[in-house]
Amino acid sequence: MIISLCCSKKGVTQNDYASSTLQSLAPFKIGAAISPYLLQNNPAYKQTLSEFNSITTENALKWGATQPSSKDNFDFSGADVIVSFCEASHKRIHGHNLVWYQYNPQWVNQFQGDSAAWDAIFKNHIQTLVSRYKGKISSWDVVNEAFNEDGSLRVSNCVWALHLGKDYIAKAFTYAREADPSVLLFYNDYGQENSPAKTAAILAMVKDFKQRGIPIDGLGIQMHININTPRDGITNVVRQFAATGLKIHISELDISVNPQKDKNLLYNQALQDRQSDLFYFVVHQYRTLVPSSQQWGITTWNVGDADSWIRHFNIKNDWPLLFDDNYKRKPVYAGFIKGFSE
Ligand code: G3I
Repeated sequence: MIISLCCSKKGVTQNDYASSTLQSLAPFKIGAAISPYLLQNNPAYKQTLSEFNSITTENALKWGATQPSSKDNFDFSGADVIVSFCEASHKRIHGHNLVWYQYNPQWVNQFQGDSAAWDAIFKNHIQTLVSRYKGKISSWDVVNEAFNEDGSLRVSNCVWALHLGKDYIAKAFTYAREADPSVLLFYNDYGQENSPAKTAAILAMVKDFKQRGIPIDGLGIQMHININTPRDGITNVVRQFAATGLKIHISELDISVNPQKDKNLLYNQALQDRQSDLFYFVVHQYRTLVPSSQQWGITTWNVGDADSWIRHFNIKNDWPLLFDDNYKRKPVYAGFIKGFSE
């Protein structure tokens, strides 16, 4: 990939990395969440995945994708495309996710049954997925986003908490471990950098799991942040999570430059510089605050700006990732890479 643009105000040019990739420069795994559709239909997208040595399934392993229409009617077509690609290209696979309050199929949301019946569909789903990819998937987000911003457990909008009780999180980890004794099991959440209460709730959960012997191997910090996110909030969560001794994954990194959703905003130099500095800061904090034995890696949430959920859910004029709409490395790529060594 030949790039001629000059980028960082601190004097690093993208040309310095012309013959390297993120994965060849990084001291830990660098991942991307990906879509099987883009992998199969967009050659530039597929080519850009040579930058990464870890892959997360963005949507392909969620309940809505794997058991979409009815109980026990599993569909692994999307996930299998990703797994085959990763096996052929020797990339680690992180499974996302086994249990979430969102993106459940209609039949689950409408399911009628007592707690034993709910437990049966829950256990069957977890163990079917984990068993199918045993030895292929290295790690799973077992439970995703179980806590509210105030640190309370999400209950009223979570079918699992409503029907299985608050110990559904521990059950999920136990069922996953039964299905694969070797796979690493993560709890994954967002917003900890803005919510000390949520961070505290996750740490209390880890402590409780350790006391009760519930298996847990890692914590995912999603890190969907924006250029105004307070840096001390990022430092606090990375430092506190690292102190658990668990593996730490920055699991869904993107940096919005348009959190105010201004329809006329342009991606000007000042915004790019601020975003680049923040990418540097995140990578630097991760590298220096998380012991290397606990560094599961940093994963960005998709590849090019046009693939980002932010473009689909929030606003079209945002540029949250390291590659542009045509999969060219952006100037902020240099800021990210600087965090590997400086
Ligand atoms: O596949 C259908 C397609 O057939 C249809 O034409 C299209 C119309 O909108 O929808 C497509 O499905 C969408 C799917 O993404 C694939 O693009 C769903 O509607 C949409 O809800 C789904 O959104 C995903 C979202 O999670 C909900 O599952 C985003 O791509 C994904 O980036 C986002 O990821 C979450 C993490 O799992 C957890 N953390 C937050 C993160 C961002 O919201």
